[in-house]
Parts: sequence; structure tokens; C-alpha cells
Amino acid sequence: MKRLLVLLAAALFLFATLAVAPAADEDEGNLKFKNLPQYGTYLKNKDDTQMTEYGGSVPHDKHDGINPLPKGYKHAQPYLKNLWLGYPFSYEYKRARGHTYAIDDIFHIDRINRYSEQAGLPATCLNCKVNNIPQQVAKQGDAFWSTNFNEYRPQYNGEKHAIGCTNCHDPEKQMRLAITSIPLDEALKRQGKDWREASRNEMRSLVCAQCHVEYYFETKDHGVAAKPHFPWDLGMNPEQIYEFYVSGQAERDGFKGAFADWTHAVSKTPMLKTQHPEYEMFHDSVHGAAGVSCADCHMPRVKVGPATISSHHWTSPLKTDEGIKDACLGCHADKTPEFMRTRVEYHQAKTWRQLNIAQEKSVRAHEAVRQAMEYPGVDEKILAEAREMVRKGQWFWDYVSAENSAGFHNPTKALNTLASSQQYSDEAVRLAIRATNYAIAKSLDKPIAELVPPIMEHSRKLQQSQEHLDSHVWLKYLPKFPEAELVWDGYERLR
Ligand code: HEC
Ligand code: HEC
Ligand code: HEC
Ligand code: HEC
Repeated sequence: MKRLLVLLAAALFLFATLAVAPAADEDEGNLKFKNLPQYGTYLKNKDDTQMTEYGGSVPHDKHDGINPLPKGYKHAQPYLKNLWLGYPFSYEYKRARGHTYAIDDIFHIDRINRYSEQAGLPATCLNCKVNNIPQQVAKQGDAFWSTNFNEYRPQYNGEKHAIGCTNCHDPEKQMRLAITSIPLDEALKRQGKDWREASRNEMRSLVCAQCHVEYYFETKDHGVAAKPHFPWDLGMNPEQIYEFYVSGQAERDGFKGAFADWTHAVSKTPMLKTQHPEYEMFHDSVHGAAGVSCADCHMPRVKVGPATISSHHWTSPLKTDEGIKDACLGCHADKTPEFMRTRVEYHQAKTWRQLNIAQEKSVRAHEAVRQAMEYPGVDEKILAEAREMVRKGQWFWDYVSAENSAGFHNPTKALNTLASSQQYSDEAVRLAIRATNYAIAKSLDKPIAELVPPIMEHSRKLQQSQEHLDSHVWLKYLPKFPEAELVWDGYERLR
């Protein structure tokens, strides 16, 4: 009876706040919902500067394990810039933070070219940063995706338009959960599924699968230029997605032949970049198989005034004992917060160790191909097989590297994926050596730090300097950019 009364009070509270929500001004965005109690918890995504052992909310360069926060952090992968050379990820790659920062952060990242009119990346990148993509596509049709990213800077505002209420809710239908992501809607359709028929529990993960997933952009000759597409048709595991990308069926899903995100500057290997596959990593984990949802751990029920609501502070559940109690102990009632934290870190430490070994083996594989390429009389056929193994090894490494839980979301799959990565990269080295009739075996027989030092500094600005390009043997493979000043800074045009 007491429970019923509390529920009733909560419902009344919700109803009252919904009723006083101001009339809809289209451009108010998230502010339209500021009277709802969820909005208060949403604001906690801002000004959160807490870190955990392997996660947390202070952005820092993910390859920098030397400098302290906020520039670097103790758990780093020093070779990220080497592995992505020739691709914008090599300019800047930082740890994620709260949803409220999504626009501020993408407007400042060096992956988008701010030194010229042309951003170098399409408006598609906004798909997972703003709250009004369906409206943009309704206005411009599929032409929207390939428009110039930089054009959108003046029309967005972090407070109003960063990832917010309308990404996951339909305000016309009492804030029912809804999928607003066009690529997710379409990926489900291709599997014969419709989110409108999904259970409430499935929706509690699907809303996150709108963005926390692997994707690629279709090409204009075979699909819609720069439209995002989820590569799930053969399954969500690294083997299946890899097969999807390289199987080379003609004109499928917006590309033809094998898909490549870019060609590595040093080994000239057509590469794939994985992006944050949290949903794919989680879906067949212990928790995924048991029907636990993303929201169970990342949006626990919390008390706000008289109501108990879902926390809209999406972050690491490990920051405080209270957080672990809310997120985990509902199911793991016989355990203490300290026990749960230790168990998570147990999985993460083991994953992290193998992740760094896989990373080093990928670097060695690129270097082996580089040396083989420059060997007169190299066997081109074996060299091509070596490149295939370089690409595969790095894809398997990145599936775990780009996933944001340091292995916790699915420890078994994370370790298996890293073991595969290491095996493919070792095979690449063997093949490259064989392609030179063993001539490069000796020059490769060195510790990795001596063979290829990590590239610690690299950016678009630095690529304008010959001195920088001469500072590392791998950087010599990059073209020098013409000198240029910033054109765009955040939301503003400077010149
Ligand atoms: C990333 C997706 C996402 C975003 C963004 C989001 N919500 Fe939610 N919201 C959820 C989920 C998941 C639930 C739990 C729904 C359930 O269990 O049925 C929820 C629940 C709710 C509920 C139902 C009561 C409750 O607390 O469980 C309301 C009302 C709500 N959200 C309002 C908002 C408001 C206001 C915003 C913007 C400040 C917002 N939401 C942003 C995912 C989201
Ligand atoms: C519209 C796209 C989108 C949706 C939907 C979305 N996310 Fe995110 N999420 C992001 C982006 C982008 C970032 C990084 C923002 C930044 O660093 O500026 C992020 C960051 C995070 C973080 C890191 C926060 C921190 O404190 O470090 C967590 C945790 C997270 N999301 C969980 C979730 C969960 C759980 C859901 C579903 C309930 C969800 N997200 C739905 C795009 C999304
Ligand atoms: C069983 C609980 C659980 C489930 C289910 C779960 N997570 Fe997590 N998640 C965690 C834990 C624990 C971490 C590690 C946090 C840390 O290292 O501080 C984490 C980390 C993350 C991070 C990185 C946070 C950071 O601090 O950098 C993101 C993003 C994230 N999860 C998103 C998701 C998404 C999206 C889903 C569903 C597809 C999901 N999680 C499902 C418990 C869970
Ligand atoms: C909705 C229920 C639920 C929630 C919430 C939940 N778990 Fe679990 N967890 C399970 C189930 C079910 C299993 C499977 C084993 C079992 O039956 O005990 C499990 C197993 C585990 C295991 C052992 C398996 C493995 O992967 O090593 C760990 C560790 C774990 N959970 C950590 C967490 C943490 C940390 C949180 C909070 C961030 C959490 N769980 C939240 C239901 C849950």
C-alpha cells in the first residue's frame, strides 16, 4: 500500500511537471524539458571530473601515458598515432566524457579540418552528437549526410542541441522510448526487426545502440554519399563484421569490393577503423545473455524529491560506492561495492595487458610490410597476403581498443578478440619476411620500442612543418600540408 502511494505521488509529480513544461519553441531543444526531474540528473553529465582506474570523465590524449591528467593518463596505448597514420584519428583522439559535451568536443577536435572551408569530414559526424538529425534529414533529404560539416557550426548550441531528450524519447507520446537514429532503424529492418515491437527491456539497450556501435559511411557510387550504415548483416562479432567488410560482394550496402576507411601511410594497407562497439561487445556477454540492459547499469533508479526516476547521468558506475550500490547491488545483493569494483578491475587489468601487446604486434606488422615493400624483388603476391593480415590484426585489436569498458562488457570476447589480433599480426610479419626471402628477418629482430618508437606528437598544424615530418621515420611518408591558420574555432568563424 505504501509503495502504491509513493508510485501515485511520483506519477502526480511527473504529470504536474509535464503540464508546466513551456510551450514548444522548436529551437529550445533540451531546455524545453528543464522542468522534468530527469533534466536535473542530465545536468550532472556536466562538470564531472572524476576518473576511475580505467574509465572516467576527464578527456585526455589516449596515447599519452607520460603526462598526468588532463593531458595524459596512466593507462595509455602509446602507438595510437602510429597505427592510424594517414587518417584523421592520428591527429587527436581523446577519452569520451558526458553527453552534454558532445557538440563542444566535436567542434574542437583536430579530426575535423578547421584550417580550411572544407571540413574534410561530412555532416554525418553530427548524427551522434546532436538532438535534431531527423529534422535535418526531413529538411534536406539524403543530401544532408554529405554536406560540409563546418557549415553547421553557427547553428548549433551545446546546451540546447547536444545529445538530449529527443534522441531517445518521443515527446508527442508521453516521452515513450523511441529510436530516432536512421541507421539503427534501417539495420534492424534488414534483420526483419522493428523497434516499435521491441520489449521495454530491449529498448533500454537499443536507445544506446543508436550511437555506441560500429558504423561506416556509404559511398556515393553505390549508396547515399556519407550516409551512416551499421555492418551487422552477418552478425555483430569481430569475425562477422570483418567478413562483411572484406567479402567483396558487388555493390552491397553502399560500397563495392572490400571496404576501406583509409590507406595506412606507411604500409599502404587498406585499413578499417573500429568505432566504439559497446553494443556489439555487450550483446552476447554474461549480462547481455541474461537480459541485463545498458540502462540497468548506466541509468539506475535514483530518488529525486518525492519521485524515483531513472538517472540520466550516463557515466562509469564505479565512481562511488553509492553508484555501485545503485547500479549493481540490485542484482548482486550479497556483494559489497568494494568486491564489485575489484572484480571489474580484475577483468580490465588482464584485458589491458593483452591490448597493449596486440597494439605492439600491429605496429611491428606495419613495419615488416614497410621494410618488405622497400626490398628489391619482393614477392608482391605474398606481400598482398601480409597486408591482408595487417588489416585483420588491427581490426581485431581496435574492436577492443575502441570499446569503452576496457573489456568489462564482455571479458571472454575481449580476450579472444585480442588473441586473434595477435595471431593475425604475427602472421603478417611472417609473410612479410617470407616475401623478401627472409632478407628482413634480422632488421626486424629488435624490441618494438627500438624498431619503431611511438609518435607522441602529431597534428594538422604539425603536418605543416618539414621539421616535424623529418622527426620520425614513419612521418616521412606523410605529405607536407601548406601553411594555414585556423579558420574555425568551436562555434565561431575566425576569418
Ligand atoms: C540516451 C537515451 C536517453 C536520453 C538522451 C534521455 N533519456 Fe529519458 N530515459 C531513457 C531510458 C532508457 C529510460 C528508462 C525507460 C524505461 O525503463 O522504460 C528513460 C526514462 C525517462 C522517463 C520516464 C521516467 C523515468 O525516470 O524512468 C522520463 C520522463 C525521461 N526519461 C525524460 C527524459 C528527459 C527530460 C531527457 C532530457 C533531459 C531524457 N529523458 C533524455 C533514455 C534516455
Ligand atoms: C545520440 C548519440 C548517443 C546516444 C543515443 C547515447 N550516447 Fe553515450 N555518448 C555519446 C557520445 C558522442 C559520447 C561522448 C561525448 C563527449 O566526449 O563529448 C558519449 C559518452 C557516453 C559515456 C561516457 C561518459 C563519461 O562520463 O565518460 C557513457 C557512459 C555513455 N555515453 C553511455 C550511454 C548509454 C548507457 C546510452 C543509452 C542509455 C547512451 N550513452 C546513448 C553518444 C550517445
Ligand atoms: C553489467 C553492467 C553494465 C552493462 C550492462 C553495461 N555497462 Fe557500460 N560499463 C560498465 C562498467 C562497470 C564500466 C567500466 C567503468 C570504468 O572503468 O570506470 C562500463 C563502461 C562503459 C563506458 C565507458 C565509461 C567511461 O568511464 O569511460 C561506456 C561508454 C559504456 N559502458 C556504455 C555502455 C553501453 C552503451 C551499454 C549497453 C550496450 C553498456 N555500457 C552496458 C557496466 C555496464
Ligand atoms: C539486472 C541484473 C544485473 C545487474 C544490474 C548487474 N548484474 Fe552482474 N550479473 C548478473 C547476472 C545474471 C550474472 C550472471 C551470473 C549470475 O547469475 O550470477 C552477472 C554476473 C556478473 C559478474 C561475473 C561474470 C563476469 O563477467 O565476470 C560480474 C563481475 C558482474 N556481474 C559485475 C556487475 C557489475 C560491476 C554491475 C554493476 C555495474 C553488475 N554486474 C550489474 C546480473 C546483473
